[in-house]
Amino acid sequence: MRPTQVILLAAGKGTRMRSRLPKVAHRVAGRAMLEHVLRAAAEALAPEAEAAHPPDAEAASGGDAEEHLPQFEIVVGHEREAVRQAIRWAPTRGRVRYVTQEEPLGTGHAVLQARPQLAEGEVAPATVLVLYGDTPIIRAQTLRALLATHEREGATLTFLTALADRETDYGRILRDHEGRVTGIVEVTHATAQQRAIAEVNSGIYCFDAAWLWSRLDDLAPHASGEYYLTDMVALAVREGRLVSTTTGSLDETMGVNDRAMLAEAERILHDRLLRALMLGGVTIQDPASTYVECGVRVGQDSLLRPGTMLQGETVIGERCEIGPHSVIRDSQIGDDCAVLASWVEEAIMEPRSWVGPMSHLRPGARICSGAKLGNYAEVKNATIGPGAQMHHFSYMGDASVGARTNIAAGAITANFAPDGSKTRTEIGDDVFISCDTILRAPVRVGDGARTGAGAIVTRDVPPYSLAVGMPARVIRHLQPPTGAATEAPVASDAPIQDMAADDDGKKRE
Ligand code: UD1
Ligand code: CA
Repeated sequence: MRPTQVILLAAGKGTRMRSRLPKVAHRVAGRAMLEHVLRAAAEALAPEAEAAHPPDAEAASGGDAEEHLPQFEIVVGHEREAVRQAIRWAPTRGRVRYVTQEEPLGTGHAVLQARPQLAEGEVAPATVLVLYGDTPIIRAQTLRALLATHEREGATLTFLTALADRETDYGRILRDHEGRVTGIVEVTHATAQQRAIAEVNSGIYCFDAAWLWSRLDDLAPHASGEYYLTDMVALAVREGRLVSTTTGSLDETMGVNDRAMLAEAERILHDRLLRALMLGGVTIQDPASTYVECGVRVGQDSLLRPGTMLQGETVIGERCEIGPHSVIRDSQIGDDCAVLASWVEEAIMEPRSWVGPMSHLRPGARICSGAKLGNYAEVKNATIGPGAQMHHFSYMGDASVGARTNIAAGAITANFAPDGSKTRTEIGDDVFISCDTILRAPVRVGDGARTGAGAIVTRDVPPYSLAVGMPARVIRHLQPPTGAATEAPVASDAPIQDMAADDDGKKRE
């Protein structure tokens, strides 16, 4: 493919969105509209080898993609910073340049702002691909087909059209009696007859670079003072240049102008994502109530129950059961896990761990293999050890809980200092923290230790001892199980040991 430079337009006012956020920064399926366009262009321009295995929207975005990326010029208005922040795709960071369009004087004027940038390039690009930042549904394969047609036909200008089966506000494509393109007319300037034309403009164009840059100055402003990029079509035709088109689907070329279209874009992308998951072996019981964002991966034979929302860079393993009514964001869930009616954010669940119903894993939570949480358990910045159990209205924050330890009903860590600082609670292996224990950090509870119901633990509890009361005092030393050395390494898959009856006469679960 010929060296190509990409210009993305993102400086429009986006008035119809009625938003303080720039239009192209609005998110669809978890990504800014502009990032969707950027990714599609990057994928379309990837070398052949990569094109055979494209870094799909739902696949992880690879690190070495960067070296193959073309140069992106993003034309922004005064909200440059908000636009820059909206793009979270790391590989493009070094490949993106921002150009400011001081006043939004139209799409033609916007492209013109990128001309000085392009002159600086080491290899002058032969082709300039222009995309509008508000077309998030566009797919790489459609762009690739457009670029291929442009090259094959040696056209001066090739652009993407779509056939509308409903009323739209897109520009209408004008053709002569032989079907040759003669121009694009904006719907606001169109006659009734022109409005009836089904073929519409997607706003995606390939230009012969030399021609574009030499002729862009010839655009004349409209009454509104705007310069339309679409007028380049009639200009090329008047010069007897070859203008070519390819046609995509109306959905895919959709330009989002208002919130109703934003929701429509969301629906289309979302259907596409869920379909890819289902064809990849994931059961989705109720696609209509299941929401999955672009960066999410889900393993084979996992089950997504109704009301589930998977967001950000979430990875779910195989044979998991998620939902009903679970929200998981930026988390890693291993194989054979369950997350029932729970909220999981920036957390890690190791294989065969279980959360819910009604539990909350907050940032920094790590649930080790075989551990079980819920109902109403909350974990923040804490590790819950292999095979540990934590049920009924409990909270562990800034803590580590050892293997096979049991956190009984109502037990919590208390580590909030008035100055906002946090100290840690460390609980060993095979510990039994009884009902309503409060662990006031910083504090350590040794392996095999136990607390009595309602204990308020303010000082360290040595291994194999029982502490009770307020403040808790050690009242008894416990017999370590024969053969169990205090420092013995813990087998992560070890079954939960049946411990003796608790002080309250309750057996641990
Ligand atoms: C544009 C096309 C129309 C096409 C439609 C497809 C023109 C004149 N019209 O109309 O034929 O059917 O897109 O979606 O091009 N922008 C700037 N600077 C500006 C103006 C716009 O950067 O001064 C950017 C916007 O941020 C946006 C894109 O260009 O991403 C398109 O602008 P928009 O105002 O949405 O154009 P439409 O009226 O939708
Ligand atoms: Ca638009």
